[in-house]
Amino acid sequence: MPSNSIQEMYVKTGLLKMRKLWVTLLAVAAVSFVSMGFLMLTNKPDIHVPEAEACQELLSNITQPQKVDEVWSLEQLKLMQSCRWKFNATALAKYRAELGHCCNASAWLTVTQENAPLDSKLVYDASSSKSLKVSSGLLEILPEKSPFPDRLYKTCAVVGNGGILRNSSCGSKIDEHEFVIRLNLPSTDFPDDVGRKTNMVTVNPSILLSRFRGLVGRRLPFVKAGVSYGKTWFLIPAFSFPGHSDVSYRALYAIEDSGSESHVFFFHPQYLSTLSKYWHDRGFHVHRLSSGFMLVNAALELCQHITLYGFWPFSLHPDGHFLPYHYYDDVPPKKWVHDMPKEFGYYVNMHFHGALQLHVGEC
Ligand code: CDP
Repeated sequence: MPSNSIQEMYVKTGLLKMRKLWVTLLAVAAVSFVSMGFLMLTNKPDIHVPEAEACQELLSNITQPQKVDEVWSLEQLKLMQSCRWKFNATALAKYRAELGHCCNASAWLTVTQENAPLDSKLVYDASSSKSLKVSSGLLEILPEKSPFPDRLYKTCAVVGNGGILRNSSCGSKIDEHEFVIRLNLPSTDFPDDVGRKTNMVTVNPSILLSRFRGLVGRRLPFVKAGVSYGKTWFLIPAFSFPGHSDVSYRALYAIEDSGSESHVFFFHPQYLSTLSKYWHDRGFHVHRLSSGFMLVNAALELCQHITLYGFWPFSLHPDGHFLPYHYYDDVPPKKWVHDMPKEFGYYVNMHFHGALQLHVGEC
């Protein structure tokens, strides 16, 4: 072969190899470019939209509607789920100071010998023209002083009775709290969903009248129901309606006579009327606050950290399936008495401001 054509052949193969190299390099660069772009896109919320900023903007735009409904609540729930919740000690301290000023749960939530001395008057909060003079007999069954400690509870769970708790698996999370508050003698049959611990439970006198026949006959069914909460505090609004005092005393006798370690306390009607005025002055006009709302307010004063479970007064689960009203039955509330959706609106607001954490859904 002439030396020229050999040279030509070497040049040609060299060029061919270089072209191949370039093509490979270009292909690698293209693939890296595409995958980098893909990674940037999939990680976009973390990189380009800092959560705190986005949520801050949402926060400043929150307005409380006049009437809270399921659609509004679902929208808020979506926001709640997309914004990481952050505790705001200042927001909680503001509620604690305001509520402490008007209502003072640690001294006034329950009737005591201190805040209801002999011959003083208890004015029924749901019937303010009627009152009861504190007799020596009543004084005898009242605790000397408020049961609440001088310190704040570290963590509190307030457990509403909403159907949202069914199949939530929230039981162990709820039980982790130092102080667990329940409402209206709820069922203890779903421990995996609602937990086992109960430090305080409200008892509506209407339950004593209907479920336990006014406690005029046998008291054992009531005592047995009480045992299912373990050692606890029962809190009864004995002085809201005049017709409810005697049955509330009987509940106290039943628990005390059974030798139970649990205690029965009565809501102070002055606490309930000042609390209702506090919210009325802020535009919440309702016939009567629900027991859930009353105890959330008490928790705002008594606890360092508060989580709400079981508050969802709507008929559909956020996933779209039908929900019973309670986690244990489907008896709806008396609509004309409370406005639970509106109360839910206030919880949403407190959640967004970081004063408490509202948990809706599974754990
Ligand atoms: O007797 P009351 O109507 O106050 O309440 P309940 O049905 O025994 O439930 C206890 C509390 O849980 C209520 O006072 C509400 O604050 C709350 N709740 C809720 O937010 N959503 C529900 N679906 C049911 C109850």
